[in-house]
Amino acid sequence: MSAMKTEEDANGTSTANGGGVCAEGGVTVLSPTDLSEMLAAGTKEVHEKAENTAFVKDFLKGRIHKELFKLGHVALFFTYSAMEEEIERNKEHPQFAPLYFPHELHRRDALARDLEFFYGEDWQSQIRISPAAQRYADRIRRVGRDQPALLVAHAYTRYMGDLSGGQVLRKVAQRAMKLPPTGEGLNFYQFDGIHSAKAFKQLYRSRMNELELDTHTKRRVVEEANLAFQFNMEIFGELEEVGKTLQDDVLDAAPAHDEMPGDVSQCPYHAAKTAASSGSSYVCQVAMTVLKNPSGQVLMAAWIAALAGLAAWYFM
Ligand code: HEM
Repeated sequence: MSAMKTEEDANGTSTANGGGVCAEGGVTVLSPTDLSEMLAAGTKEVHEKAENTAFVKDFLKGRIHKELFKLGHVALFFTYSAMEEEIERNKEHPQFAPLYFPHELHRRDALARDLEFFYGEDWQSQIRISPAAQRYADRIRRVGRDQPALLVAHAYTRYMGDLSGGQVLRKVAQRAMKLPPTGEGLNFYQFDGIHSAKAFKQLYRSRMNELELDTHTKRRVVEEANLAFQFNMEIFGELEEVGKTLQDDVLDAAPAHDEMPGDVSQCPYHAAKTAASSGSSYVCQVAMTVLKNPSGQVLMAAWIAALAGLAAWYFM
Protein backbone atom coordinates (compact mmCIF):
# COMPACT_ATOMS: atom_id res chain seq x y z
CA MET A 1 0.00 0.00 0.00
CA SER A 2 1.30 3.44 -0.68
CA ALA A 3 0.36 7.08 -0.50
CA MET A 4 -1.47 7.21 -3.80
CA LYS A 5 -4.56 9.41 -3.77
CA THR A 6 -5.83 10.74 -0.46
CA GLU A 7 -4.46 10.25 2.99
CA GLU A 8 -5.19 11.39 6.49
CA ASP A 9 -2.19 12.53 8.44
CA ALA A 10 -0.95 11.05 11.70
CA ASN A 11 -3.66 12.72 13.78
CA GLY A 12 -6.42 12.52 11.23
CA THR A 13 -5.93 16.23 10.47
CA SER A 14 -4.11 17.95 7.67
CA THR A 15 -0.36 18.34 7.77
CA ALA A 16 -0.27 20.78 4.90
CA ASN A 17 3.27 22.06 5.13
CA GLY A 18 3.43 23.33 1.59
CA GLY A 19 4.84 21.47 -1.39
CA GLY A 20 1.48 21.14 -3.13
CA VAL A 21 -0.41 19.61 -0.19
CA CYS A 22 -3.85 20.97 0.62
CA ALA A 23 -6.52 20.09 3.15
CA GLU A 24 -10.13 19.25 2.37
CA GLY A 25 -12.40 18.40 5.30
CA GLY A 26 -9.60 16.83 7.37
CA VAL A 27 -8.29 14.84 4.42
CA THR A 28 -4.95 15.70 2.85
CA VAL A 29 -5.11 15.67 -0.93
CA LEU A 30 -1.80 15.01 -2.65
CA SER A 31 -1.08 16.50 -6.02
CA PRO A 32 0.65 14.25 -8.59
CA THR A 33 3.86 16.20 -8.07
CA ASP A 34 4.20 15.28 -4.40
CA LEU A 35 7.49 13.53 -3.86
CA SER A 36 5.93 10.88 -1.58
CA GLU A 37 3.45 9.97 -4.27
CA MET A 38 6.07 10.01 -7.00
CA LEU A 39 8.27 7.69 -4.93
CA ALA A 40 5.48 5.25 -4.10
CA ALA A 41 4.38 5.06 -7.76
CA GLY A 42 7.90 5.18 -9.20
CA THR A 43 9.21 2.29 -7.07
CA LYS A 44 6.11 0.08 -7.31
CA GLU A 45 7.64 -2.18 -9.94
CA VAL A 46 11.03 -2.57 -8.31
CA HIS A 47 9.32 -3.10 -4.92
CA GLU A 48 7.46 -6.04 -6.40
CA LYS A 49 10.73 -7.41 -7.75
CA ALA A 50 12.32 -7.10 -4.31
CA GLU A 51 9.34 -8.86 -2.72
CA ASN A 52 9.79 -11.71 -5.19
CA THR A 53 13.46 -12.42 -4.62
CA ALA A 54 14.11 -15.93 -3.36
CA PHE A 55 15.82 -14.64 -0.23
CA VAL A 56 12.89 -12.43 0.80
CA LYS A 57 10.30 -15.10 -0.05
CA ASP A 58 12.18 -17.72 1.97
CA PHE A 59 12.52 -15.28 4.85
CA LEU A 60 8.76 -14.67 4.94
CA LYS A 61 8.15 -18.43 4.97
CA GLY A 62 10.38 -18.71 8.03
CA ARG A 63 13.10 -20.46 6.06
CA ILE A 64 15.87 -18.40 7.57
CA HIS A 65 19.34 -19.77 7.99
CA LYS A 66 20.85 -18.11 11.04
CA GLU A 67 24.18 -17.66 9.25
CA LEU A 68 22.45 -15.75 6.44
CA PHE A 69 20.47 -13.67 8.89
CA LYS A 70 23.75 -12.70 10.59
CA LEU A 71 25.39 -11.84 7.25
CA GLY A 72 22.31 -9.82 6.29
CA HIS A 73 22.70 -7.88 9.52
CA VAL A 74 26.39 -7.29 8.72
CA ALA A 75 25.44 -5.83 5.32
CA LEU A 76 22.79 -3.66 6.98
CA PHE A 77 25.31 -2.48 9.56
CA PHE A 78 27.68 -1.17 6.88
CA THR A 79 24.81 0.30 4.85
CA TYR A 80 23.25 2.15 7.78
CA SER A 81 26.66 3.28 9.05
CA ALA A 82 27.29 4.97 5.69
CA MET A 83 23.76 6.35 5.46
CA GLU A 84 23.64 7.73 8.98
CA GLU A 85 27.09 9.32 8.68
CA GLU A 86 25.91 11.09 5.51
CA ILE A 87 22.65 12.06 7.20
CA GLU A 88 24.65 13.63 10.06
CA ARG A 89 26.77 15.48 7.52
CA ASN A 90 23.62 16.84 5.86
CA LYS A 91 21.36 17.32 8.86
CA GLU A 92 21.20 21.06 8.28
CA HIS A 93 21.12 20.94 4.52
CA PRO A 94 17.77 22.38 3.39
CA GLN A 95 17.26 19.48 0.97
CA PHE A 96 17.48 16.95 3.78
CA ALA A 97 16.97 18.70 7.14
CA PRO A 98 13.17 18.11 7.44
CA LEU A 99 13.85 14.34 7.31
CA TYR A 100 16.37 14.36 10.16
CA PHE A 101 14.94 12.03 12.84
CA PRO A 102 17.96 10.40 14.49
CA HIS A 103 16.21 9.38 17.69
CA GLU A 104 13.22 7.85 15.93
CA LEU A 105 14.89 6.20 12.95
CA HIS A 106 18.61 5.62 13.18
CA ARG A 107 19.49 1.92 13.16
CA ARG A 108 23.28 1.73 13.43
CA ASP A 109 23.39 1.32 17.21
CA ALA A 110 20.54 -1.21 17.18
CA LEU A 111 22.42 -3.22 14.56
CA ALA A 112 25.63 -3.00 16.61
CA ARG A 113 23.76 -4.48 19.62
CA ASP A 114 22.38 -7.28 17.45
CA LEU A 115 25.82 -8.06 16.04
CA GLU A 116 27.29 -8.20 19.53
CA PHE A 117 24.55 -10.67 20.47
CA PHE A 118 25.29 -12.88 17.44
CA TYR A 119 29.10 -12.65 17.26
CA GLY A 120 30.12 -11.78 20.81
CA GLU A 121 32.06 -8.87 22.27
CA ASP A 122 34.71 -8.84 19.54
CA TRP A 123 32.07 -8.69 16.78
CA GLN A 124 33.81 -5.80 15.04
CA SER A 125 36.91 -7.87 14.34
CA GLN A 126 34.78 -10.71 12.94
CA ILE A 127 32.73 -8.89 10.34
CA ARG A 128 33.69 -7.85 6.81
CA ILE A 129 31.82 -5.78 4.28
CA SER A 130 30.64 -7.81 1.28
CA PRO A 131 31.16 -6.55 -2.31
CA ALA A 132 27.45 -5.69 -2.78
CA ALA A 133 27.26 -3.87 0.56
CA GLN A 134 30.46 -2.02 -0.36
CA ARG A 135 28.94 -0.81 -3.64
CA TYR A 136 25.77 0.30 -1.82
CA ALA A 137 27.74 2.12 0.91
CA ASP A 138 30.03 3.77 -1.69
CA ARG A 139 27.01 5.11 -3.57
CA ILE A 140 25.42 6.47 -0.38
CA ARG A 141 28.67 8.23 0.56
CA ARG A 142 29.01 9.73 -2.90
CA VAL A 143 25.48 11.18 -2.93
CA GLY A 144 25.87 12.37 0.67
CA ARG A 145 28.94 14.37 -0.35
CA ASP A 146 27.94 15.54 -3.82
CA GLN A 147 24.12 15.44 -4.18
CA PRO A 148 22.44 15.60 -0.77
CA ALA A 149 18.96 15.74 -2.30
CA LEU A 150 19.46 12.15 -3.47
CA LEU A 151 20.14 11.02 0.08
CA VAL A 152 16.37 11.36 0.53
CA ALA A 153 15.95 8.35 -1.79
CA HIS A 154 18.19 6.16 0.35
CA ALA A 155 16.57 7.20 3.61
CA TYR A 156 13.10 6.63 2.11
CA THR A 157 13.91 3.17 0.72
CA ARG A 158 15.30 1.82 3.97
CA TYR A 159 13.41 3.58 6.75
CA MET A 160 9.95 3.48 5.15
CA GLY A 161 10.52 -0.16 4.26
CA ASP A 162 11.68 -0.99 7.79
CA LEU A 163 8.65 0.74 9.28
CA SER A 164 6.35 -1.08 6.85
CA GLY A 165 7.41 -4.70 7.26
CA GLY A 166 9.60 -4.64 10.34
CA GLN A 167 7.16 -6.07 12.85
CA VAL A 168 6.21 -9.00 10.64
CA LEU A 169 9.85 -9.78 9.86
CA ARG A 170 10.73 -9.53 13.56
CA LYS A 171 8.13 -12.16 14.49
CA VAL A 172 9.10 -14.47 11.64
CA ALA A 173 12.81 -14.23 12.51
CA GLN A 174 12.23 -14.70 16.22
CA ARG A 175 10.16 -17.85 15.70
CA ALA A 176 12.32 -19.36 12.96
CA MET A 177 15.61 -18.91 14.79
CA LYS A 178 14.12 -19.43 18.25
CA LEU A 179 15.56 -16.12 19.45
CA PRO A 180 14.63 -14.88 22.92
CA PRO A 181 11.19 -13.20 23.04
CA THR A 182 12.89 -10.38 24.97
CA GLY A 183 14.28 -9.08 21.67
CA GLU A 184 18.01 -9.88 21.76
CA GLY A 185 19.27 -10.10 18.18
CA LEU A 186 16.18 -8.29 16.91
CA ASN A 187 16.86 -4.70 17.98
CA PHE A 188 17.02 -3.68 14.34
CA TYR A 189 13.26 -4.17 14.04
CA GLN A 190 12.46 -2.34 17.25
CA PHE A 191 11.79 1.43 16.87
CA ASP A 192 11.59 2.57 20.48
CA GLY A 193 11.15 6.22 19.55
CA ILE A 194 8.10 5.54 17.37
CA HIS A 195 4.72 4.94 18.93
CA SER A 196 2.77 4.36 15.72
CA ALA A 197 4.60 3.32 12.55
CA LYS A 198 1.60 4.32 10.45
CA ALA A 199 1.44 7.82 11.93
CA PHE A 200 5.20 8.27 11.62
CA LYS A 201 5.17 7.24 7.96
CA GLN A 202 2.50 9.86 7.32
CA LEU A 203 4.64 12.49 9.01
CA TYR A 204 7.67 11.38 6.97
CA ARG A 205 5.68 11.57 3.72
CA SER A 206 4.48 15.07 4.53
CA ARG A 207 8.08 16.10 5.34
CA MET A 208 9.27 14.67 1.99
CA ASN A 209 6.59 16.73 0.27
CA GLU A 210 7.79 19.80 2.11
CA LEU A 211 11.29 19.64 0.60
CA GLU A 212 11.93 22.40 -1.87
CA LEU A 213 12.92 20.37 -4.89
CA ASP A 214 12.16 21.13 -8.51
CA THR A 215 10.47 18.50 -10.69
CA HIS A 216 13.73 17.45 -12.31
CA THR A 217 15.36 16.80 -8.91
CA LYS A 218 12.28 14.91 -7.68
CA ARG A 219 12.57 12.64 -10.72
CA ARG A 220 16.22 12.05 -9.91
CA VAL A 221 15.24 11.14 -6.34
CA VAL A 222 12.83 8.53 -7.73
CA GLU A 223 15.59 7.16 -10.00
CA GLU A 224 17.93 7.01 -7.02
CA ALA A 225 15.31 5.13 -4.98
CA ASN A 226 15.13 2.57 -7.79
CA LEU A 227 18.88 2.26 -7.55
CA ALA A 228 18.62 1.81 -3.78
CA PHE A 229 16.17 -1.07 -4.29
CA GLN A 230 18.62 -2.59 -6.79
CA PHE A 231 21.44 -2.38 -4.25
CA ASN A 232 19.23 -4.18 -1.73
CA MET A 233 18.43 -6.89 -4.25
CA GLU A 234 22.14 -7.33 -5.00
CA ILE A 235 22.69 -7.99 -1.31
CA PHE A 236 19.82 -10.52 -1.31
CA GLY A 237 21.45 -12.16 -4.35
CA GLU A 238 24.74 -12.39 -2.55
CA LEU A 239 23.04 -13.99 0.46
CA GLU A 240 21.26 -16.46 -1.83
CA GLU A 241 24.65 -17.51 -3.21
CA VAL A 242 26.04 -18.03 0.29
CA GLY A 243 22.87 -19.97 1.13
CA LYS A 244 23.66 -22.47 -1.65
CA THR A 245 26.89 -23.37 0.11
CA LEU A 246 25.09 -24.12 3.38
CA GLN A 247 23.50 -27.45 4.18
CA ASP A 248 19.93 -27.80 2.91
CA ASP A 249 18.63 -29.64 5.94
CA VAL A 250 19.74 -26.76 8.15
CA LEU A 251 17.97 -24.32 5.84
CA ASP A 252 14.71 -26.17 6.20
CA ALA A 253 12.83 -24.47 8.99
CA ALA A 254 9.81 -26.82 8.79
CA PRO A 255 9.24 -28.46 12.20
CA ALA A 256 10.51 -32.03 12.59
CA HIS A 257 7.79 -34.62 12.11
CA ASP A 258 8.44 -36.31 15.42
CA GLU A 259 7.61 -32.97 17.07
CA MET A 260 4.22 -32.89 15.36
CA PRO A 261 0.96 -34.59 16.30
CA GLY A 262 -1.02 -36.60 13.69
CA ASP A 263 -0.29 -39.09 10.96
CA VAL A 264 3.07 -38.56 9.25
CA SER A 265 1.99 -40.43 6.12
CA GLN A 266 -0.69 -37.80 5.38
CA CYS A 267 1.95 -35.11 4.81
CA PRO A 268 2.84 -34.66 1.11
CA TYR A 269 6.13 -33.08 2.11
CA HIS A 270 7.03 -36.19 4.05
CA ALA A 271 5.84 -38.43 1.18
CA ALA A 272 8.18 -36.63 -1.21
CA LYS A 273 11.06 -37.10 1.17
CA THR A 274 10.22 -40.78 1.64
CA ALA A 275 10.08 -41.38 -2.11
CA ALA A 276 13.52 -39.86 -2.45
CA SER A 277 14.99 -41.91 0.38
CA SER A 278 16.36 -45.47 0.15
CA GLY A 279 14.42 -48.75 -0.10
CA SER A 280 15.46 -49.94 3.35
CA SER A 281 13.87 -46.94 5.00
CA TYR A 282 10.70 -47.75 3.05
CA VAL A 283 10.72 -51.27 4.57
CA CYS A 284 11.13 -49.68 8.00
CA GLN A 285 8.22 -47.34 7.24
CA VAL A 286 5.97 -50.30 6.32
CA ALA A 287 7.02 -52.13 9.50
CA MET A 288 6.28 -49.00 11.58
CA THR A 289 2.88 -48.57 9.96
CA VAL A 290 1.99 -52.24 10.67
CA LEU A 291 3.19 -51.93 14.25
CA LYS A 292 1.01 -48.86 14.87
CA ASN A 293 -2.08 -50.95 14.10
CA PRO A 294 -3.23 -53.40 16.96
CA SER A 295 -4.06 -56.23 14.53
CA GLY A 296 -0.78 -55.54 12.77
CA GLN A 297 0.99 -55.96 16.10
CA VAL A 298 -0.63 -59.45 16.59
CA LEU A 299 0.27 -60.42 13.03
CA MET A 300 3.86 -59.24 13.49
CA ALA A 301 4.16 -61.13 16.82
CA ALA A 302 2.87 -64.32 15.11
CA TRP A 303 5.40 -63.87 12.32
CA ILE A 304 8.27 -63.41 14.77
CA ALA A 305 7.18 -66.45 16.80
CA ALA A 306 6.98 -68.57 13.61
CA LEU A 307 10.42 -67.37 12.47
CA ALA A 308 11.91 -68.08 15.91
CA GLY A 309 10.40 -71.62 15.82
CA LEU A 310 11.80 -72.23 12.36
CA ALA A 311 15.24 -71.02 13.40
CA ALA A 312 15.19 -73.22 16.54
CA TRP A 313 14.20 -76.29 14.46
CA TYR A 314 16.97 -75.54 11.90
CA PHE A 315 19.77 -75.18 14.44
CA MET A 316 18.82 -78.17 16.59
C1 HEM B 1 8.23 -9.66 0.79
C2 HEM B 1 8.81 -8.50 1.03
C3 HEM B 1 8.07 -7.22 1.25
C4 HEM B 1 6.76 -7.03 1.56
C5 HEM B 1 5.68 -8.07 1.78
C6 HEM B 1 6.56 -5.61 1.65
C7 HEM B 1 5.37 -5.03 1.95
C8 HEM B 1 5.14 -3.69 2.05
C9 HEM B 1 3.89 -3.08 2.36
C10 HEM B 1 2.62 -3.83 2.69
C11 HEM B 1 4.08 -1.75 2.33
C12 HEM B 1 3.02 -0.70 2.56
C13 HEM B 1 2.97 -0.28 4.01
C14 HEM B 1 2.13 0.95 4.23
O1 HEM B 1 1.87 1.75 3.33
O2 HEM B 1 1.73 1.14 5.38
C15 HEM B 1 5.44 -1.52 1.99
C16 HEM B 1 6.00 -0.30 1.85
C17 HEM B 1 7.32 -0.09 1.55
N1 HEM B 1 8.29 -1.03 1.38
FE1 HEM B 1 8.03 -2.98 1.34
N2 HEM B 1 7.74 -4.98 1.39
C18 HEM B 1 8.68 -5.93 1.14
C19 HEM B 1 9.99 -5.73 0.82
C20 HEM B 1 10.60 -4.51 0.75
C21 HEM B 1 11.99 -4.29 0.48
C22 HEM B 1 13.02 -5.39 0.25
C23 HEM B 1 12.18 -2.94 0.50
C24 HEM B 1 13.43 -2.15 0.29
C25 HEM B 1 14.63 -2.55 0.57
C26 HEM B 1 10.91 -2.32 0.77
C27 HEM B 1 10.68 -0.96 0.85
C28 HEM B 1 9.45 -0.40 1.08
C29 HEM B 1 9.21 1.04 1.08
C30 HEM B 1 10.22 2.12 0.79
C31 HEM B 1 7.87 1.23 1.38
C32 HEM B 1 7.11 2.55 1.49
C33 HEM B 1 6.23 2.74 0.25
C34 HEM B 1 5.49 4.06 0.32
O3 HEM B 1 4.51 4.13 1.02
O4 HEM B 1 5.94 5.00 -0.32
N3 HEM B 1 9.97 -3.30 0.92
N4 HEM B 1 6.07 -2.72 1.83
